Amino acid sequence: MDSVSLYLYFPVLLFITAALYLYTRLANNLPPTPFPALPIIGHLYLLKKPLHKTLSSLSKKYGPVFYLRYGSRQILVVSSPAAAEECFTRNDIIFANRPNLLFGKHLGNNFTSIVWSGYGDYWRNLRKICSLEILSSHRLQKLSSIRVEEVRSMVKHLFRFSGGGLQAVEMTMKPVFFELMFNVLTRMIAGKRYYGEESEKSEEAKQFQEIMKETARLASLTDMGDFSWFLKWFWFRDLEKNFVELSKRRDRFMQNLIDEFRGSDNKGNNKTLIQILLDLHEAEPEYYKDDDIKSLMQTLLQAGVSTSVDTLEWAMSLLLNNPEMLHKAQNEIDNVVGKDGLISESHLAELPYLHSIIKETLRMCPVVRFLIPHESSEECTVSGFHVPRGTMLLVDVKAIQNDPKIWEDPENFRPQRFQEGGNVGLGFMPFGSGRRKCPGEGLATRVVVLALGALIQCFNWDRISEEMVDMTEGPGLFAPRVVTLKAKCGARPSMVSLLSEI
Ligand code: HEM
Repeated sequence: MDSVSLYLYFPVLLFITAALYLYTRLANNLPPTPFPALPIIGHLYLLKKPLHKTLSSLSKKYGPVFYLRYGSRQILVVSSPAAAEECFTRNDIIFANRPNLLFGKHLGNNFTSIVWSGYGDYWRNLRKICSLEILSSHRLQKLSSIRVEEVRSMVKHLFRFSGGGLQAVEMTMKPVFFELMFNVLTRMIAGKRYYGEESEKSEEAKQFQEIMKETARLASLTDMGDFSWFLKWFWFRDLEKNFVELSKRRDRFMQNLIDEFRGSDNKGNNKTLIQILLDLHEAEPEYYKDDDIKSLMQTLLQAGVSTSVDTLEWAMSLLLNNPEMLHKAQNEIDNVVGKDGLISESHLAELPYLHSIIKETLRMCPVVRFLIPHESSEECTVSGFHVPRGTMLLVDVKAIQNDPKIWEDPENFRPQRFQEGGNVGLGFMPFGSGRRKCPGEGLATRVVVLALGALIQCFNWDRISEEMVDMTEGPGLFAPRVVTLKAKCGARPSMVSLLSEI
């Protein structure tokens, strides 16, 4: 073919491809989708970081329910409350599956963890253990002393760090929150603390910290390339080796913890997760094997720590940018708790404004921004469109929770909106919805509200400069802050004597 014929044929070929493409989509009633989806990579060429900006501009063009192909993966993106409601009510069982992502292979014990296992008896059993044995209100109530002690320890650390006086010092907040959350969870799991002064010299604590650091590092590298086998092969060959190495280290560490408990006589009232599961194994030897215990330990650490840490970091950032709300919360706590004692869980029911601050934070800055991806196990319809089997579902929680059709003045931090009543229903879903909803909501809420309450009660907080705190969020499926939060922190004069005694 000479160059003149090529020149003539190319537009004709393009027209035929576009017509065929449109015909297939309309005939199958598939959701709107950008044109073209290229061979092999599909719509990956549209993918620019940050992901949420790409998806939000596509949603403006194609509507709140649209369809993408990333490599070999079909993806349904949903950003309206009504469509999300359909996914998690009428289609809840169909979307209760998880896609096979690298995360699930390496961080979800080859898709056997509660987060990454497919919907079925195995997942149901894990979920039952979590909800009834580990994260039930009854169990959380029994373990309340762990949370109270760890929050005390956090304010004690901050007071010491600030020199024990009224002089404000600059603090980086994230490590403080990480210590708190890791200690709460490892005490629930194994009765051990791996962070803080007394753990500094322990070899075991050092190993644990290294494993957690490496897990976070590798998790942050998987991100979006995971969606295509081609990119996986190209980008992730080395990463996979690191994941395998890490799994071995983590497995050895956790097995040692289990072996320590096996045979020990720890039959007290406040049992650890390991002890509870070993007891269940004794009663039913075919269940709750060591691999299941290790998988649960790892999952709770992964699912529970960074989500709560990021929420606390966002809450402090929003308060630093809105000091009048911070003072309002301080007044509420002073009126209910007084100045002679530290806030405890028994006060929380009387602190509605403090709760509203956390809810408003989770509305504006939901840390699991697109939920954890779901996958359809059968074909179904969403908003009248046909959704094929095996489609990955991404729910844009942030878009839903900031939709001006549901939320008045959504871009402004207004905690009181949660006290003014009004039914927000599926317009508010920071912990997800339906069968796969977060089972750790009760624990997260208790720790995060108590910790924020203690920080507000004990210290005065300020931005490190006149400039507002930067609220830019990270580029991936999760939404941590891009800039680590620093704040000025000084003990409140009325709290110095109490803090000196802790
Ligand atoms: C502020 C803190 C937290 C937030 C915002 C949060 C949010 C979420 C979200 C959005 C999901 C996915 C729901 C879906 O797939 O549709 C999830 C799943 C999950 N979360 Fe949380 N979470 C938090 C803390 C915790 C804690 C403290 C734990 C336990 C220690 C926990 C354990 C889990 C587990 C096990 C799952 C997987 C559930 C399943 O697939 O069946 N989370 N979380």
